Parts: sequence; structure tokens; C-alpha cells
Amino acid sequence: MAYNVAIDGPAGAGKSTIAKKLAEKINFIYVDTGAMYRAIGLFILRNNISYDDVEAIKSAINDIDIKIEYKDNKQLVLLNGENVNDFIREEKVGIYASKTSKYECVRSKLLDLQKELARTNDVIMDGRDIGTTVLPDADVKIYLTASSKTRAKRRYDELVAKGVECDINVIEKDIIQRDEQDMNREISPLRQAEDAHLVDSSDMTIDEVVNYILENLIKIH
Ligand code: DC
Repeated sequence: MAYNVAIDGPAGAGKSTIAKKLAEKINFIYVDTGAMYRAIGLFILRNNISYDDVEAIKSAINDIDIKIEYKDNKQLVLLNGENVNDFIREEKVGIYASKTSKYECVRSKLLDLQKELARTNDVIMDGRDIGTTVLPDADVKIYLTASSKTRAKRRYDELVAKGVECDINVIEKDIIQRDEQDMNREISPLRQAEDAHLVDSSDMTIDEVVNYILENLIKIH
């Protein structure tokens, strides 16, 4: 039986950094489900479809094929055969991903793929609805969060390191708005599963969070 670890939480809580480190340490596959939603967002954006136009999205969804491959332990997202890893990290794509991920047709497109990856592999899977919907029977569920101030500061530092000019207050406002969207949609909203362990990383370093999870939560025999 495959061992499944589900990590959910809001944007900027450090999920992907922590999930990647954990996966490396215990030799699991890291499945980044946000990247799959981003690939769909990218398709909608590239095809000049409004994220509010549910009918157009419903028909576009039939033209979308998402596949996941692993190369040197790195997840590649293939959108209709094209590796789109280099295009999905832009802010605009994140907004499209958040806006379009509320639609049932988008979520059901990805659900089977996510379940299948977890059925056939030991995975650390991160997202918004992994513990609640995708892997309700996961061996370990973690809800990773941090204050919006901390998350904004992390994002600000990241952008400044890349030489991008930005305003920390605008970043925090965007983060709060994204949380609202993800937590208040009707289908599979972001929420802590009842049996998930809450980890607040506001005052913890990445390594502290990784070690805490390894020492206290993941029990592989
Ligand atoms: O984790 P991320 O920022 O890459 O995710 C982008 C968007 O995708 C996020 O705002 C909401 C959506 N998403 C989702 O609805 N369900 C998931 N399991 C993962 C992401």
C-alpha cells in the first residue's frame, strides 16, 4: 500500500518548499497540485477566455490534457504535451488558477489524476483540498499555515531577492484576497480536515517545520 501525506494550507505558508524537502528526505514523490491548476489557468489565459465565463471554460476543458512526469525528481506539468513549468509561476497565472479552480469542471478534470498518483506511489501531495477531498484516507494530514503578515514578508523577500520592486502592503492585500477566494468557494474550499495536524510556521524556520513533521507526524516503518 502506498503511504500518503497530505499537506494543505493557504498561499505562501511554505507548503511546496516543505513538501519538497520532506519528499527528498524520505524518498517520496512530491505532487504539487497547485501546478496542475496553474496549467489550466495558463490555458484559459493563453486562449483569451475570461475567468468568469464558465460556459467557455466548460467547453475549453475538453481541449485540455494534463499529464505529470518526473525528471530528476522534479515534477513536470505537461499541458497538451508541452512542459509548462517555466510559465506557470507568474502572478497572473496564479490569479487565473485561483479564479478557475472554483469550477466543478476544472476540479473534476484533475481529481482522478491526483488520486491515481497517490494510489500508485508514496506521495507528499500539497494543495488546498487534499486532506478533505482528494485523499480523505491519507496516512498523515497536515494543515500548514502562517499569519498573512509573515506570508507577505516571505513573498516580499523572494521578490526583492529577484530584483523586483514591490510594496509589502499590496502583497499582503493580495494574499488575503486569495485566501478569501480559496476558502469561500462552494466546491472543495480550503479548510483544515478534522483529522489534520495544524502546523503554524509563522515563527518557525523551514528546517524546524520539516524536522517537526518528520519527528512527530510521519511514521514510516
Ligand atoms: O498552491 P498554488 O498557489 O500553486 O495554487 C494556485 C491556485 O490553485 C490556488 O489559488 C487555488 C488552486 N488550487 C486548488 O484549488 N486546489 C488545490 N488542491 C491546489 C491549488
